[in-house]
Amino acid sequence: MKTLLVGYRAADLFEKGKHGRWATASWLDGDVTCHTLDVYDRHAIEKTHHLKAVCSPHLPAGPWDLVKFKTGPKLMSGELALDLLQEIHMLKPARFELDYVGRERDRNDLLAKIRDDPDRVRDFSAKWTASVPGIAPVEFTSVPGCFCHRRLDEGGLALAEVASRELKGASSVKVLDMGCGCGLVGLLVAKAVPVASLVMVDSHSRAVEAANLNATNLGVPAEVILADNGTPARMDGTFDVFVGNPPYYSDYRIADVFLETAKRALKPGGVCYTVCKNAAGLEPVQRRYFPEVEVIRRRGYAVLKSAAV
Ligand SMILES: C[S@@+](CC[C@H](N)C(=O)[O-])C[C@H]1O[C@@H](n2cnc3c(N)ncnc32)[C@H](O)[C@@H]1O
Repeated sequence: MKTLLVGYRAADLFEKGKHGRWATASWLDGDVTCHTLDVYDRHAIEKTHHLKAVCSPHLPAGPWDLVKFKTGPKLMSGELALDLLQEIHMLKPARFELDYVGRERDRNDLLAKIRDDPDRVRDFSAKWTASVPGIAPVEFTSVPGCFCHRRLDEGGLALAEVASRELKGASSVKVLDMGCGCGLVGLLVAKAVPVASLVMVDSHSRAVEAANLNATNLGVPAEVILADNGTPARMDGTFDVFVGNPPYYSDYRIADVFLETAKRALKPGGVCYTVCKNAAGLEPVQRRYFPEVEVIRRRGYAVLKSAAV
């Protein structure tokens, strides 16, 4: 029996065993593949449960005897849920189970969208424009699941504006955009200043897909990498500029990973720019890796600038 799990994270795959101990759920027997959109979720499933896991922007081709989909309003956006449900529908599994965390009425509404119009294929991508001073508006495409879908993030825009302004006049800079999302910051910088090479990294497979698409559409040569265990080796002290708009949940732990990468990636004299709403939270993290931090205010955000020594 070939089973595909969609929307499950490592923590969802435990059950309490006979002696009250948590263990990998017994219903996970047979040939099980777990699909994840984020590479760290894939690592967690492989490490914790030793299950087969695939991280990709779209669901792996079947045939599947059973597809189980875990979703709900607190787990993912309604649009991502519908997009994944549509992909499952197109895979035509022999059996489908929806593990819905939320109200029965919302569960039925979600299922009805596919059941009532089974042949309709919806396109969930969105196009919007962004610009920094000195360049014409550029068009970005985003997809459900990637940051930010359907709108630009003001923090990311503030970061792109400050970095582009400060790099004006620079020649042939090598830029690393970590946590690139759909490529907003790195691509705006590359449009505004002469960039010799642009590397964009994200842990989310749909962000990588969108950033690749946007780089191609904008004619910007860029290398887009899915953040992985192998990524650190690529951050080799040759970059002139690091830009990062990190997520701030998990007590700045991810921001710490970003800044540790910035320290390793930048060459002496290179510049690190990060952005956040509240400088007081991020500044001490940035000081762990860089001796000086300058705070530049923009659009109600704080851009933190440091030079690598
Ligand atoms: C706040 S969003 C910023 C996206 C984009 N730079 C912008 O400004 O619109 C943070 C991004 O970091 C990514 N991310 C989270 N943890 C990461 C990690 N360990 N390595 C690389 N990217 C990560 C998320 O997937 C998300 O796309």
